[in-house]
Amino acid sequence: MKELRVGLVGCGFMGRTHSNAHRRLNNFFQPGRRSVLKAICDTNAEKAQAFAETWGYERVETDWRKLMQAPDIDLIDICVPNFAHAEIAIAAAQAGKIIICEKPLARSVAEAEPMVEAVEKAGVPNLVMFNYRRVPAISLAKQLIDEGRIGRPYHYRTNFLQDWTISADVPQGGDALWRLDVKAAGSGVTGDLLAHNIDTAMYLNGPITRVVARTETFVKERMHTLTGKVEPVGIDDACLFIAEFANGSLGLFESTRYARGHKALKTLELNGADGSLKFNLEEMEYLDYFQYAGVESHVRGWRRIHVTNGEHPYMSKYWVPGLVIGYEHSFLNALADFVECLETGRKFQPDFRCALQTQKVCEAVIQSGKEGRWVETGVEL
Ligand SMILES: NC(=O)c1ccc[n+]([C@@H]2O[C@H](COP(=O)([O-])OP(=O)(O)OC[C@H]3O[C@@H](n4cnc5c(N)ncnc54)[C@H](O)[C@@H]3O)[C@@H](O)[C@H]2O)c1
Repeated sequence: MKELRVGLVGCGFMGRTHSNAHRRLNNFFQPGRRSVLKAICDTNAEKAQAFAETWGYERVETDWRKLMQAPDIDLIDICVPNFAHAEIAIAAAQAGKIIICEKPLARSVAEAEPMVEAVEKAGVPNLVMFNYRRVPAISLAKQLIDEGRIGRPYHYRTNFLQDWTISADVPQGGDALWRLDVKAAGSGVTGDLLAHNIDTAMYLNGPITRVVARTETFVKERMHTLTGKVEPVGIDDACLFIAEFANGSLGLFESTRYARGHKALKTLELNGADGSLKFNLEEMEYLDYFQYAGVESHVRGWRRIHVTNGEHPYMSKYWVPGLVIGYEHSFLNALADFVECLETGRKFQPDFRCALQTQKVCEAVIQSGKEGRWVETGVEL
């Protein structure tokens, strides 16, 4: 079988989910290529060495530039914080490598646009890891919408709630906490959490054309791990926004890291003339469906679909009906689709250009939060 020789950059949380996907790919899917874990790269050499042993990488690098020149690497998998996406992705495109990049594509639209230009100019296959599209229940929601079961959409409602930054003692900057440092992350919950909701929303319900937002930074100063000084906090701790979709429906989005009791509550609901859909990440094997059209009124009601049957998206690749899969499989499903696209030449979504549209919405949201007015997103229709 053909090999897909991987050089993965960044051995944190996402380094693990991507490495797991590469390792499991051929246990569950037969997309025509086999991932070979050639090199792991992290600026922290000790961490990278331990990671290589755990996940089975052949060699360790501490400078990602080495991977670009390496003839034995086909694919660069970017799992570093947002500030490093653009530089690595552009170099990888120029070196003719296949690229997987974590979300959000970049810190800003200005940073993301040259990335799109670089991959399109080089003609290299590219993927941005908005993995939630490939949770089977969300893929099934897309199928039901495409089958016309929801009818004209009126409302799209979604949130992503956490509670881990409530304490003012949590510092900003450095490992994992780069998320609180606006220079490293670009934005707070908007780019980190809502980018996922926005990608899923535009996947299910089409382009978002205008937004009006209210953002808040509850803790104004935090110790910076890298400088050792107390510094102003530049990220949005919470973000609420209203959106207009090109199809005429209205959207309501909320994200915060101050929702005491919630670790990763992520929900969505779509209400249409002929039906509604509901999803909750904490019960990710279910899709709730209300069918209005074609059902007699005395038996109409919400139906809970246990998305584990062979005919449900991806599920025939795993166990038997009734048995569930988890968070990690969304990465595996995305990788399998991507590798199949490499083989067939089909276009994979979401690619860099698609992720640029999400970046545009994020940026419009942040701008609206600052200026207190409606902002056009400029998303491609
Ligand atoms: N798809 C998802 O659901 C999801 C979830 C979490 C994070 N992410 C995204 O994944 C990316 C990484 O997040 P994470 O949670 O894995 O971060 P993390 O802090 O857990 O890990 C980042 C790793 O990158 C290394 N690193 C930093 N700069 C580097 C450089 N220039 N060269 C090499 N290594 C470098 C760090 O040492 C660290 O080991 C971010 O863009 C984030 O937004 C996506």
